[in-house]
Amino acid sequence: MTITIRTALGPDVVAIDALLRTSFPRADEADLVRRLCIDGDMVLVLVAVDEEAGDLAGMVAFSRMQADAGGKEIAAVALAPVAVAAAYRRQGVAEALIHAGIERLEAERVVLCFVLGEPGFYERFGFHADYARNFTSPYAGEQLMALPVQGGLMPCGVRGEARHASAFARLAAE
Ligand SMILES: CC(C)(COP(=O)(O)OP(=O)(O)OC[C@H]1O[C@@H](n2cnc3c(N)ncnc32)[C@H](O)[C@@H]1OP(=O)(O)O)[C@@H](O)C(=O)NCCC(=O)NCCS
Repeated sequence: MTITIRTALGPDVVAIDALLRTSFPRADEADLVRRLCIDGDMVLVLVAVDEEAGDLAGMVAFSRMQADAGGKEIAAVALAPVAVAAAYRRQGVAEALIHAGIERLEAERVVLCFVLGEPGFYERFGFHADYARNFTSPYAGEQLMALPVQGGLMPCGVRGEARHASAFARLAAE
């Protein structure tokens, strides 16, 4: 089996939507991705493709955030969602997608990548609640983690604010 990671393209839209609808119990994640794209807040969507079968094995999305530390704006994104089709799980597909995404964000000079999720899953990539703690956010807590993207370089000890794209708030409100 050969899995290729690449940037998502227009023809991937239907398969991505179907993957998100089957991977999560509710349609929230599929709606989130649609809204982020329409709002112009999507920064990067990567897909994992099974080259032999031609199937979509997984996807990960990163969206623009507004963040500041000590009053100074910093380039920050949110990782959400990540999903891997059931037949392709436990083979490192999500790990490959997230690593590829972080590599791309590093090249794009993103400073912090936030994620809201299971620490047990995300800490293996270097995400930690400690990096998010100094930022006020409606999602603040142990499940709000961040990863310093530029080789660990990040504002230290300064308080700031981290605002997710508005699509997140709209979903939370529904
Ligand atoms: C979570 C998900 C993306 C993992 O995809 P994957 O390709 O199987 O992941 P990888 O093979 O790279 O890594 C698998 C590891 O993640 C762990 N893992 C998966 N889901 C986890 C969770 N919710 N909490 C903690 N660990 C988790 C597995 O136990 C496995 O760990 P191990 O290798 O030490 O046994 C996939 O299970 C999925 O799409 N789930 C439904 C959607 C979802 O929950 N997305 C993430 C929201 S936090």
